[in-house]
Amino acid sequence: MKLFLDTANVESVAEIASWGVLDGVTTNPSLVAKEGKDFKKTVIEMCKHVPCVSAQVTATDFAGMKKQGEEYASWHKHVVVKVPMTTEGLKALHYFRSKGIRTNTTLIFSAAQAVLAAKAGANIISPFIGRLDDIGENGMALIGEIMQIWLQYDFDCEVLVASTRHPRHIVDAAKLGAHICTVPVDVFKKLPQHALTDVGLKRFLDDWKKVAG
Ligand code: G3P
Repeated sequence: MKLFLDTANVESVAEIASWGVLDGVTTNPSLVAKEGKDFKKTVIEMCKHVPCVSAQVTATDFAGMKKQGEEYASWHKHVVVKVPMTTEGLKALHYFRSKGIRTNTTLIFSAAQAVLAAKAGANIISPFIGRLDDIGENGMALIGEIMQIWLQYDFDCEVLVASTRHPRHIVDAAKLGAHICTVPVDVFKKLPQHALTDVGLKRFLDDWKKVAG
């Protein structure tokens, strides 16, 4: 399973990329607004660290999405144009596929939306599991449903588990065979940690001090 960082913070991307485990980055308008930095510069800088950086269009009509998406794709070959799951978005996905521009469909909340986006030509679909959990639904059950559908067909479209909230989401996404999981910075930093690792390392080092004097 590929691991992406869900952020618009370039320093965090550089830090986690240095661990050798990072396959991409997902940004969205809310994350970009939080950082308050220039969007184009941010995306280009991130593209130096990872091969796949999702940059979201803010236009809501096909013509606007086409214009913005083509511009983003011209910034760097690592850019993936993120398109919202609407009927205008479907048109844009279809268009970008015909032009060889990679896309990620955001705001997927049902299996029907997932199938439509894949059929329209999305390279990636992003079901938001945490937001489903927030309203009392079962986000990971949707991933299970989508992966079951994906097994029956040959969609050229990766399933990216988005809106993750804790490390267990990443493990469960991997167990279901999701292709990609995007993870917020605070959750990503929890992934390498285990209390027994810390205790074990301390004991090894303390014992070694006794031998080494
Ligand atoms: O990648 C989508 C993600 O940013 C949404 O996360 O936590 O706002 O639901 P959240």
